[in-house]
Amino acid sequence: MSQHIASPSTASVRPIPGPKGYPFVGVAPQFLRDPLAFTVRAMHTYGGIMRLPIGPRNLVMVVHPDLLRRVLQENVRNYAKNYAVIQELLGNGLATSNGEIWLRQRRLMQPAFHHRQITMMVELMAAEIARLRERWRAVAASGVTLNLAEEMLALAQAIIMRTMFSAEPSEDSAQIGTAFAVAMRVAERKNYRPSWMPRRVYAQEDGRYNQAVAFLEQRVFAMIAERRRAGSDRGDLLDMLLTAQDAESGEYMSDQQIRDEVMTIYFAGHETTANVLTWTFVLLARHPDVAQRLRAEYAEKLAGGDPGAADLGQLTYGRQVLDEVMRLLPPAWMVTRVAVQDDQLGGYHIPAGSRIALSPYLTHRMAEFWPDPERFDPNRHSPELAAGRHKFAYVPFILGPRKCIGDAFALTEMQLALPMLLQHFILTEAPGEPVQPMPQGTLRPSGPVMMEIRQA
Ligand code: HEM
Repeated sequence: MSQHIASPSTASVRPIPGPKGYPFVGVAPQFLRDPLAFTVRAMHTYGGIMRLPIGPRNLVMVVHPDLLRRVLQENVRNYAKNYAVIQELLGNGLATSNGEIWLRQRRLMQPAFHHRQITMMVELMAAEIARLRERWRAVAASGVTLNLAEEMLALAQAIIMRTMFSAEPSEDSAQIGTAFAVAMRVAERKNYRPSWMPRRVYAQEDGRYNQAVAFLEQRVFAMIAERRRAGSDRGDLLDMLLTAQDAESGEYMSDQQIRDEVMTIYFAGHETTANVLTWTFVLLARHPDVAQRLRAEYAEKLAGGDPGAADLGQLTYGRQVLDEVMRLLPPAWMVTRVAVQDDQLGGYHIPAGSRIALSPYLTHRMAEFWPDPERFDPNRHSPELAAGRHKFAYVPFILGPRKCIGDAFALTEMQLALPMLLQHFILTEAPGEPVQPMPQGTLRPSGPVMMEIRQA
């Protein structure tokens, strides 16, 4: 693998290495057929930066940690988000906005994700996990097979609604989850619509999308109106959004901006975490030695009880397991940017307007930083082995100013859910085709994740 990264001063106009591809379509057929396998193979051939002709334009894949540091930190202002289709759904929310709007919103919302705030949410999170556990207990006595992916999605949705918006699970919850999933799936597919295809081909799909978005907006605006009427005293994110005042103009956020942030937090805050939890149980079922060591840690430190906020930092092996799941299967397997002005990366010229892709999935597989990269081995994240590793070699939440705002929230939720479920149940994969990661908006399971659940 060519991993030499030239310093910016040696930059030239030599072309970024990459496959040639077919006329017009480039490598789109191979990329779309199996994006994970194709890009991993390409990384082994071309190294830490490569050019992939996908359709009529090139995508520059930036993989080496040195180059991630430049894109995500040193020259971050030069690499803007450009998620046009998702922006239709999430508007100017934190995940899709740029520049001044993003900076203002990030500063306003940051306090809701402060360590102290998250510690206060532990009880609410635990209550939702306990509710799920009771449901499983009622059915697991004689062994039961459940779709774990669905279970984890419902759990993560309930947790985000309760902690961020003080919304209790209701009849509506499942409908909201379904509407959101429909809107997201269609939005993701819109990215791949050929521009020459007549719009009417998509009329049915667009109809479903519009219906789902209208339903969600109606619910979000109703929630905002209800909170305005009732007064803001819950101390949750919704209160913060309603009462935040611009330091200079003294203005409050518009209902539209609040709507965008509520949709963004719901979107960014549940499927990612649900995927990691699902993959964790699957990998534990496939690696009984790791599961055994994890149970031993829980037995020693929790003795069958539920963890409180103060216990979470003690569950060090549990954290290593989660870190390793997110190394092998990072939910945000690829994120994209567009270069605002010319730059140089790894000695290559990057013209303004270039489409840039960063892939935690690939960076986490660079053998230089992760020996035998496909092996599931939580020991890699022990303090001894992690010491001295390149900071940008491990980026499940990305780093720099646009790092995930919800990283500590997600880790807290997962560090609670694992022992609260694993100490009470044994999960094994049901017979059938083993589930595979499917790279779409997030790294989802390829189908239902059927697991047999028995009382431990
Ligand atoms: C394991 C769970 C999670 C993972 C792996 C994850 C990963 C990421 C990544 C990679 C980004 C950067 C995206 C980009 O640069 O395009 C991001 C951004 C973001 N995430 Fe997360 N996330 C997780 C959970 C959460 C949760 C629980 C929340 C909210 C409660 C959240 C809220 C956000 C928001 C609002 C952004 C945009 C931040 C900004 O641009 O300022 N995420 N996340």
